[in-house]
Amino acid sequence: MEYITFALAKGRLAKKAMEVLGKAGIHCEEMNDPNTRKLIFTDEEHKFKFFLAKAGDVPTYVEYGAADIGIVGKDTILEEGKKLYEVIDFGFGKCRMCVAGPESARELLGSGRRIRVATKYPNIAKDYFTNVLHQTVEIIKLGGSIELAPIVGLSEVIVDIVETGSTLRENGLSVLTEIVPLSARMVVNQVSMKMEQERIQKLIADVRSVIGN
Ligand code: PRP
Repeated sequence: MEYITFALAKGRLAKKAMEVLGKAGIHCEEMNDPNTRKLIFTDEEHKFKFFLAKAGDVPTYVEYGAADIGIVGKDTILEEGKKLYEVIDFGFGKCRMCVAGPESARELLGSGRRIRVATKYPNIAKDYFTNVLHQTVEIIKLGGSIELAPIVGLSEVIVDIVETGSTLRENGLSVLTEIVPLSARMVVNQVSMKMEQERIQKLIADVRSVIGN
């Protein structure tokens, strides 16, 4: 039997996902060791492999078939735009991709003015401004703490993830429009889905029954 390989986005998401997979009978004890420097973990009995990767890299591993299955946020799936099957919405990691900024910037949206938009998600931002607001904007790519950009005058607005909204609130910013709701998803390589149809379909059904969808 061939291995089925999982790529998980490092961090909180991977931890929660492994809890759900555990309830569906897919375990990896080795991965729980906080001191390990190992990159890949194997469940010999069930022929599973697991590795952790930077979220943005997970769709790449899955598209190329280096992983059969990926677990990653919808934000990353949309941003990376790879050819994958999205098969499960885990329902955790819920948040929203939004356009945010000071209230005074609200009138700029859809105004036709060429504003600056700071974001870690240039593809999502460009797509939303071009195809939904029909507005040509300058996208400025940042690596983090995006909320800083309108405060220090780098951009008029931002496109970023909003979870509780407290980062925006504490910095005098508001949600101006919501782009899309987000949560953790399972994606599958398109060839693996055909080659390992039975095992992967069973795995999907088992995980679905745990999360009740
Ligand atoms: C994310 C996001 C916001 C914040 C939103 O940042 O970019 O800054 O969480 O959460 P809230 O609505 O609950 O305040 P993250 O912590 O991932 O770090 P980052 O600055 O590196 O993006």
